[in-house]
Amino acid sequence: MAPKIISLISAPGGVGKTTIAVLLGWFLKERNKKTLLIDMDPSLGLTLNLFDFADYKRDLEDHNKTSADFLELTLRPDELRKFDFNHVISTASFQKYNLDLIASSIRLETVMGSIWYNPSSGHRETKLKDALGYIPSKLNYDYIIIDSIPCYALVYAMTTLFASDKCIVPLRLTRNDLGRTISMIKKIQEDMEQVKVSEDEFYNKLLFVFNRVNTQYNYDDKIPKYIDEMRKAIPKAQFFDEYIGQQAGFPRIGTTEQKPDDSKNVKKLFEPFFKDFIEKIG
Ligand SMILES: Nc1ncnc2c1ncn2[C@@H]1O[C@H](COP(=O)(O)OP(=O)(O)OP(=O)(O)O)[C@@H](O)[C@H]1O
Ligand SMILES: [Mg+2]
Repeated sequence: MAPKIISLISAPGGVGKTTIAVLLGWFLKERNKKTLLIDMDPSLGLTLNLFDFADYKRDLEDHNKTSADFLELTLRPDELRKFDFNHVISTASFQKYNLDLIASSIRLETVMGSIWYNPSSGHRETKLKDALGYIPSKLNYDYIIIDSIPCYALVYAMTTLFASDKCIVPLRLTRNDLGRTISMIKKIQEDMEQVKVSEDEFYNKLLFVFNRVNTQYNYDDKIPKYIDEMRKAIPKAQFFDEYIGQQAGFPRIGTTEQKPDDSKNVKKLFEPFFKDFIEKIG
């Protein structure tokens, strides 16, 4: 069966995309689901959550084992057809599990630029989808999780959304985040319509989740109010029923700063969202 392709996008940065991507990788692996994480952030958010920079540079970047390298091949389809995807898939250890990852590269920015602004590249928004189609089915992935960057780079959002079955949009509980998210989502929806993705199809892909990333305006009782406001602006917006609570262990997990209870504490707060994820996404 084809893998489910799930991505993470947001309007503002720092809302928890990378955290959710890596925790999904961990939780899915724990349940024996074969999962590939793909870092589509040229500033290496997910990659450096899982690798030390020096190791990454020596073992991956210097050997062209990155998302920039397979995406670039969409400009040379003959080479893409012959490409061995195993070359770009690396393994990273996280909470005693081995996670499959395609790391990112600062070169991704140049590659995205040549795809997007090169008139001869044609159907630019489908390039990531096209490239993922060449991942050999014998690798048997159940899920592909794509971490992206904030949507001020609409190029990334469009490419990522086009390639995904579902797209998770984390939201912090601030008025500022709500406004920025509404504004960006509306713009992306208009742009997606230009490339023949209907409004219904677009909103069916999106699922918003509140993540209580550390802010001083972080009150749970705001959630129903914010959902109402969001639905007024975007009537077709769909939400996870669960939100992700705040926990000091989130920034430490997987790092050398991790404390003995962090794994247990983070799990407890992520579990309700994960159950909701399985219910809604399968
Ligand atoms: N529920 C949470 N409770 C506490 N801290 C959290 C929570 N979720 C995420 N964080 C922390 O918030 C910070 C930002 O999260 P993260 O890097 O995942 O966001 P991002 O959306 O990927 O950011 P960027 O847009 O820069 O890529 C990190 O330090 C992360 O550990
Ligand atoms: Mg990130």
